[in-house]
Amino acid sequence: MSERAIGIFDSGVGGLTVFKEIHRLFPGEELLYLGDTARVPYGTKSPGTVLRYALEAAAFLVDQRVKMLVVACNTASSVALEALAERFSLPVLGVIAPGARKAVSVTRNCRIGVIGTEGTVKSGAYTRAIHALAPEVEVFAAPCPLFVPLAEEGWSDHPVARLAAEEYLEPLMARGIDTLVLGCTHYPLLKKTLGAILGDGVTLVDSAEETANEVAGVLARDDLARRGPLLPPRFFVTDVPTRFERVGGAFLGTPLCGVDRVEIDG
Ligand code: SIN
Repeated sequence: MSERAIGIFDSGVGGLTVFKEIHRLFPGEELLYLGDTARVPYGTKSPGTVLRYALEAAAFLVDQRVKMLVVACNTASSVALEALAERFSLPVLGVIAPGARKAVSVTRNCRIGVIGTEGTVKSGAYTRAIHALAPEVEVFAAPCPLFVPLAEEGWSDHPVARLAAEEYLEPLMARGIDTLVLGCTHYPLLKKTLGAILGDGVTLVDSAEETANEVAGVLARDDLARRGPLLPPRFFVTDVPTRFERVGGAFLGTPLCGVDRVEIDG
């Protein structure tokens, strides 16, 4: 079992932020990454549709005989995590709880902002997870629907991204937040733009690091750490790979060649 790969999925390139952190911490683990690029974004879809997409993405990775599933998509984590854990008999990790834990540990004034897709914000998943840890914390959540297409386009540092960010962040800054959860796996790609607007007084929380720590816990708990020879990661997408290779390769700082296109629906 330990020689099997870790399966990671997201709607597109955004989950590569989680992939990168897991790969950095565990270079000896084989990683399979699926980006459901034919159906990105998930964040504007209904919970029922996201649930179906997530079940199909997970089923594809389980068919590749992975030993663990990492749902590197906030929208899917907020609506599908329980159903995935019930359906598949392997450890299933999401990104909401790790992000909430980190935010609670860094806030000093107990005023936390959360930005995410419409689906994630509507689900209230971050507010619930933060309040379960620290009921006294005030949470201010705002959807930022333009960020996913901007990141997928590779426009994270473009003036258009800056304009959109100023508009989205202004109401949160007016609330005096000192911590901002990047509640969508695409948003860390815009970290530079967001940080420049928010300034040093606001700590940006991206779940990737904390999620990788959670992976460490499961590998140790279930004795799943791989001991075999190094294997390169494999990448799968559900649409033509050109854009994924371009934007993902730029983000990872290494060319992404040989990305396989697969069918996962139905
Ligand atoms: C999306 O597909 O809309 C974004 C992914 C996420 O919610 O992390």
